[in-house]
Amino acid sequence: MKFPDFQLTDKIAIVTGASKGLGYGVALAMADAGAHVVVTSRDIERAQPVATEIQEMGRESLPLALEVCSLDSIEAMVGAALDRFGRIDILVNNAGINIPEPALEVSEEHWDRLMDINLKGLFFCSQKVGTVMVRQGQGKIINVGSQMGFVGGKLRAAYCASKGGVVQLTKVLAIEWAKHGVNVNGVAPTFLRTPFTAHMFEDATFYDEVVANIPLGRVGEVEDVLGAVVFLASPASDLITGTTMLVDGGWTAW
Ligand SMILES: NC(=O)c1ccc[n+]([C@@H]2O[C@H](COP(=O)([O-])OP(=O)(O)OC[C@H]3O[C@@H](n4cnc5c(N)ncnc54)[C@H](O)[C@@H]3O)[C@@H](O)[C@H]2O)c1
Repeated sequence: MKFPDFQLTDKIAIVTGASKGLGYGVALAMADAGAHVVVTSRDIERAQPVATEIQEMGRESLPLALEVCSLDSIEAMVGAALDRFGRIDILVNNAGINIPEPALEVSEEHWDRLMDINLKGLFFCSQKVGTVMVRQGQGKIINVGSQMGFVGGKLRAAYCASKGGVVQLTKVLAIEWAKHGVNVNGVAPTFLRTPFTAHMFEDATFYDEVVANIPLGRVGEVEDVLGAVVFLASPASDLITGTTMLVDGGWTAW
């Protein structure tokens, strides 16, 4: 009997949007599980301290600038990661934004910006890293979706559409790249306490409404999502592809 292997020993992992919030937690969790981590952020100055923290954990880490809306930036980041490490084993597509507003007020500019980051950027990061993984004959991609890819949420027309798109895209890439040994999965958290939600949770009525929708009775912390991400990056999940794992405290179970 071979028991499940949750280790990422000496794997090379790229995390997008890794300077804060969930991406920061994912970058450290990858390192804790044994990976060397390419820490990306729009602003390389913000990636540097995270990379230093990972090096202090005894792993290698490369801070790189990445604007997910720019194909040139994605290609430069992938090229630099390959120059340094020679391969890419794991990609966590974490970068994302939300612009909560009523559907009647969504401007074309807001719609495009949100889709460009949450869906188009995620797709082209997957494509450019996927090209490397297909050539290698192995790799794991984890897309950070949201419970809002499964249910509707008021003030979240573009956000729900983008995250629903992430769920579908995850399935397509999984099907296309399975024969090349590349697994593509997602995680879909409920509301988490991160810089992304800090201002939203200042509204006590909103916070109470959110918690009332979560059977487990609390919002998530970054740490609540890390187990699912590490699992989907590890050999323990080798037969899993095309799925998006809800980490939603039961929000979608009602
Ligand atoms: N916080 C939540 O409640 C929650 C719930 C479900 C899903 N999520 C998802 O988790 C992911 C991370 O969210 P978070 O809460 O940590 O948010 P956050 O705002 O704290 O961090 C988002 C990260 O994405 C980066 N980013 C944004 N636009 C970018 C761009 N154009 N190019 C490169 N990087 C960019 C930011 O710099 C930042 O590092 C997002 O995809 C979000 O949709 C968050």
